[in-house]
Amino acid sequence: MEKQEVKIMTISKNEESTLQVSNLHMKYNEGKHNEVYVLKGIDMEIKAGQMVAIMGPSGCGKTTLLNLIGGLDKYTTGNIQINGSLLGDFSDNEITKFRRDNIGYIFQLFNLFEDQTALENVSLPLIMQRIEPSLALNRAKMMLQEVGLGDRFNDLPGKLSGGEQQKVAISRALITDPKIILADEPTGDLDTASSNDIMQLFRRMQQENQGMSIIIVTHSQDIANQCDRIIRIDDGKILNDQYFNTEEN
Ligand SMILES: Nc1ncnc2c1ncn2[C@@H]1O[C@H](COP(=O)(O)OP(=O)(O)OP(=O)(O)O)[C@@H](O)[C@H]1O
Ligand SMILES: [Mg+2]
Repeated sequence: MEKQEVKIMTISKNEESTLQVSNLHMKYNEGKHNEVYVLKGIDMEIKAGQMVAIMGPSGCGKTTLLNLIGGLDKYTTGNIQINGSLLGDFSDNEITKFRRDNIGYIFQLFNLFEDQTALENVSLPLIMQRIEPSLALNRAKMMLQEVGLGDRFNDLPGKLSGGEQQKVAISRALITDPKIILADEPTGDLDTASSNDIMQLFRRMQQENQGMSIIIVTHSQDIANQCDRIIRIDDGKILNDQYFNTEEN
């Protein structure tokens, strides 16, 4: 059988990654006759290099939105475009590769591998990119040192506190220098000092990797105030969209 060429969109290091979400709807089917509309027409454009907070009450659809942008779930109607490519046009295989090469996802519930050490968890995205294991481990050590876990390399997640696990999850998301970071309450388990350290780490990464966009779901006004922009969602719709310190101001 003739082998089909699979084109994968990878955002190159110098390329700007604009994310365009248009009239996005998402419904979940709960049983045969019960459809729950969670997103009801979300429109937003996020330019390369922006750090954006997404706020809103529990259950308003923030995690759902991040999951759709990260290609972890399929939207019902509407569009998500990244650099002009429609996410909905990708095959499952293409989405997996796209995510591996372009997205750093910090999950609300961390999603660490319980049988792998902190170091192994953090190095995994580089191993998936077929980076040489010794290089991957060295880079993972540097990332863990950056977040203050230089002495916890060999601990399994079960031996770490919630905040420490969150730092491992953050390190794992940042290790590939992704173009888009999707962070679902990344400081939810951290004290104020650690939260501010993580925000500074995000800023540093952004300065080192021009064009990196960071989308942070948060319930903390303090964290949101450190972003360039705050998008407020309520009941599946954008309530308001506020810019700070950018040319759009
Ligand atoms: N897989 C699913 N099947 C059915 N309903 C779902 C599913 N995932 C989420 N929902 C529903 O969608 C709504 C939005 O959930 P979502 O997790 O996006 O909220 P959220 O804004 O992230 O809330 P929180 O701040 O508590 O994390 C909720 O009412 C939830 O019950
Ligand atoms: Mg959530």
